[in-house]
Amino acid sequence: MQDELPKAYRGIEFLPVTAVKHYTDKTFSFSCARPDSFRFRSGEFVMIGLGNGDKPLLRAYSIASPNWAEELAFYSIKVADGPLTSRLQHLKVGDKIVMRPKPVGTLVHDALIAGKRLLLFSTGTGIAPFASTIRDPETYDKFEQVILTQTCRDVKELDYGKALIAEIRSDELLSEVVGDKLTYIGTTTREESPDMGRMTDWLRDGRFATATGAALDAETDRVMICGSMAMLQEHKAICEDAGMAEGSNSEPGKFVIEKAFVD
Ligand code: A2P
Repeated sequence: MQDELPKAYRGIEFLPVTAVKHYTDKTFSFSCARPDSFRFRSGEFVMIGLGNGDKPLLRAYSIASPNWAEELAFYSIKVADGPLTSRLQHLKVGDKIVMRPKPVGTLVHDALIAGKRLLLFSTGTGIAPFASTIRDPETYDKFEQVILTQTCRDVKELDYGKALIAEIRSDELLSEVVGDKLTYIGTTTREESPDMGRMTDWLRDGRFATATGAALDAETDRVMICGSMAMLQEHKAICEDAGMAEGSNSEPGKFVIEKAFVD
């Protein structure tokens, strides 16, 4: 059947949607079937989207499900005039999304050298790759402590992360693997909540050290960062000021960054 499709669809998989959940008017998650032969490393992204005439409409999305799960999950923003998300937000169970099954990315264990604490800094939907990482047993083999932070404008936007943590805590197998190693800190910047402010400010003014027991330390800490361009630049500067070198798949380092999906 693939022979009848336009050339631009070569190698593209059509995957039925199995679940859709809307968190806020700006964010939603969806899951689809995972092709049998598809493997990925926690934290990687893949090109997904919708069929669109001669050429599929594809964007980079972090895989939010763990690499051992039967389905693939994604967490997305909704942009009213975004070419893809304006359509994607209307997905229903049974619809088909398209995927180019070639996972890539730098938010992976292979791009970091060994350390004691793994710090995962995110804003908004930048939490998606870490939803995979914090459910990967390898993460807890490699690190003594794992700290996930997410900064959002509003309280409701933190629901996705909170539900994820609750799911881990209530899962018999996973909660055993994770033990007491995982800490989650959700902060808001535009709506009143118990923990307010940007994590970049927390790192600079000592609130991060108070909340986690220690300030950012190049000796013990390894960092993954995912969010907007401005957020990445600020976190990157904080890591570099602490004496950390950026890592990549070919040359592992002490911190890695990746831009969250934007439209
Ligand atoms: P703020 O409300 O102070 O701008 P956005 O929706 O604009 O991507 O922002 C998502 C979250 O990321 C917001 O809470 C926002 O805070 C925060 N944020 C924006 N820019 C930065 C930055 N340069 N460093 C850290 N956090 C940021």
